Amino acid sequence: MPETSGAELRWSIRASFLRYVAALPDARASVSDGARLTRDDPQLVVYPADPDATTDSTLAFRGDLRLSGHGGLLFVRLAGPRIELGIDGGTAVLSVEDPTSEDGTGPRLPLVTVTLTRTEDGWSGSDAALTADGVALFNHVYPAGAPFDPLEIVTTATAAHVVL
Ligand code: HEM
Repeated sequence: MPETSGAELRWSIRASFLRYVAALPDARASVSDGARLTRDDPQLVVYPADPDATTDSTLAFRGDLRLSGHGGLLFVRLAGPRIELGIDGGTAVLSVEDPTSEDGTGPRLPLVTVTLTRTEDGWSGSDAALTADGVALFNHVYPAGAPFDPLEIVTTATAAHVVL
């Protein structure tokens, strides 16, 4: 089993999107179920490991980030990310719980593809790119394949500057 106990996923998603939402006059951001937002620049969302759902091929995390604005027209929920490891270190897929329902009961949404490489204390994910399935979540602003931010999975908790 991959070493994810005590691990966390740190990801700025796509910094331009977080900045865009933060600049809306009625912007709201909430984190729950163990997720945290940092004050780093770019700002990171930190999702703690979910060892019970982690398998040989899946790195699972919990935590729920919700962003809203534009009088409720904009609502994006990014919760319970899971990374399906690619075969032989190939492209991995990060999915999130159904972002359209409050309780995430619908099918998971494959959000980005990402190239994972081992680091001293976990994994680093580069070349993140939006899937075709993820396009609607961002109001069709980003096309399929649009670059998303790199991510880190660390096994030691050194996260500082915790806001929430
Ligand atoms: C009242 C409805 C909306 C209006 C008036 C609106 C307006 C805008 C404007 C003016 C921009 C350009 C901002 C800039 O370049 O600084 C933008 C960007 C964007 N909007 Fe909206 N928007 C609306 C709804 C939504 C919704 C529902 C979503 C869904 C998530 C969304 C997602 C985005 C994204 C992803 C960007 C690109 C941010 C970036 O990476 O720079 N918008 N929007």
